[in-house]
Amino acid sequence: MVSLSTRAQQIAEEFEVSDSKINELVQYFIQEAEECLAEKRERGLPMIPTFVTGVPDGTEKGTFLAVDLGGTNLRVCSVCLKGDSTFDLIQEKVAVPQSIMKGDSADFFGFMADRVGEFLEKHHGSESLYAKEQSSDALKTNPSTPNLYKLGFTFSFPVDQSALNRGKLMRWTKGFDIKDAVGKDVCAEFQSALNIRQLPVYVAALVNDTVGTLMARSYTKPSAGRTLIGCIFGTGTNGAYSEKISKIGKFDKDGHPEIVSKIMVINTEWGSFDNDVKHLPNTRFDVVLNTHTPNPNYHMFEKRVSGLYLGELLRLVLLELQGEKLIFNKPCADSSALYTPWSIDTSVPSLIDADKTSDLSETESIVLKVFGQETTLEQRQAIQLIAKAIGKRSARLSAVPLAGIIIKTKALTKFEGEIDIGADGSVVEFYPGFEKNIREAFRATPIGAEESRISIGIAKDGSGVGAALCALVAE
Ligand code: GLC
Repeated sequence: MVSLSTRAQQIAEEFEVSDSKINELVQYFIQEAEECLAEKRERGLPMIPTFVTGVPDGTEKGTFLAVDLGGTNLRVCSVCLKGDSTFDLIQEKVAVPQSIMKGDSADFFGFMADRVGEFLEKHHGSESLYAKEQSSDALKTNPSTPNLYKLGFTFSFPVDQSALNRGKLMRWTKGFDIKDAVGKDVCAEFQSALNIRQLPVYVAALVNDTVGTLMARSYTKPSAGRTLIGCIFGTGTNGAYSEKISKIGKFDKDGHPEIVSKIMVINTEWGSFDNDVKHLPNTRFDVVLNTHTPNPNYHMFEKRVSGLYLGELLRLVLLELQGEKLIFNKPCADSSALYTPWSIDTSVPSLIDADKTSDLSETESIVLKVFGQETTLEQRQAIQLIAKAIGKRSARLSAVPLAGIIIKTKALTKFEGEIDIGADGSVVEFYPGFEKNIREAFRATPIGAEESRISIGIAKDGSGVGAALCALVAE
């Protein structure tokens, strides 16, 4: 019978992404990105024009509301941009209940509008009551009514935008499944939920979190370099960058002659890169995972990279090893996390990967807590090997769209000095060695040694500050 360490080694190898695979994927990303800028493709990269036609320079001023629905949490903020690259931010955060994530559209938009109402009462008390009197009649028609709060709505799902504050939800990702919201204009729905509650708020801009991250990083200018990409590696993954409007073939320029010579921020929705899995690695664990998602055969890149999925991949590998009687000495109860899809949070592989104790005692207590199982050192080493392999594959794949955009835009030859990437999300922030593994993969691409000119900075509050900056664009 094959030993556990041999099996674990074999499985870890299945998660390896060679340098030549990285290059193949980068080439394919550039090809898909260009084809999908030229014309819409149902299963291709969405490459969504956002109607944001500039990035900030730090001098912007004003107070705005922001609502951020990214994954598991809803945040309501008010942001005061001070015009010197700094800002003040007040925020409230609540978890989005499962019943809302999978309920109906009216409850969903109502839930958000109620949180905005509570926020205004709490933080803008008398001011907001005054505004309510002044503006309730004018709400629907006149966004420039005095005392009407302009709101940037960070809605981090694929939306086919038709204006800065108009766009139809294409599909849900990251475990959300509110069927009657698909195809609806999310800004209009949100605005009417706010209006029903007579709240003095105008939804001025729809903002993807990656666009917000790009805007916020450009505003705060932490380095001398030019921020080329805003990206998220968290529950989901995605990136936004500035593209010349003349290169966006599918964008109806006739209706907008004033902006043809400008740039527009593109929300790539790279989670949907290679949905047909022509080039992406595809283990049997990926295949099973995909069948358990509410969006099977979409967002196939995201399902190999982002936080929602890494714990589930580990669970599926452990399930196989347990089926082969190689790990877990006693039977697991039917209700065990091992048998429960989506029960393993990304923090589990991430903390196991980070365990540097000689006897892997941290891994021991995590496995005991999560699966109720005692482990031998050999078993813990096998589990750590798998966790590391899953994390490393995620990071190396993450380098693909980043390198693709850097190469496609010729940023390293066009601009001098540093090329900056603003990033946010728990995976890039906390998964051990994530940035190091991205950089190693960059060096395998045509970027080569120029990798040292690329800075990757964590852009906190991208979705709050960035949303405010987009609401300001609306003025
Ligand atoms: C998912 C969403 C995308 C978002 C990303 C990161 O991929 O489709 O819109 O930007 O998650 O939150």
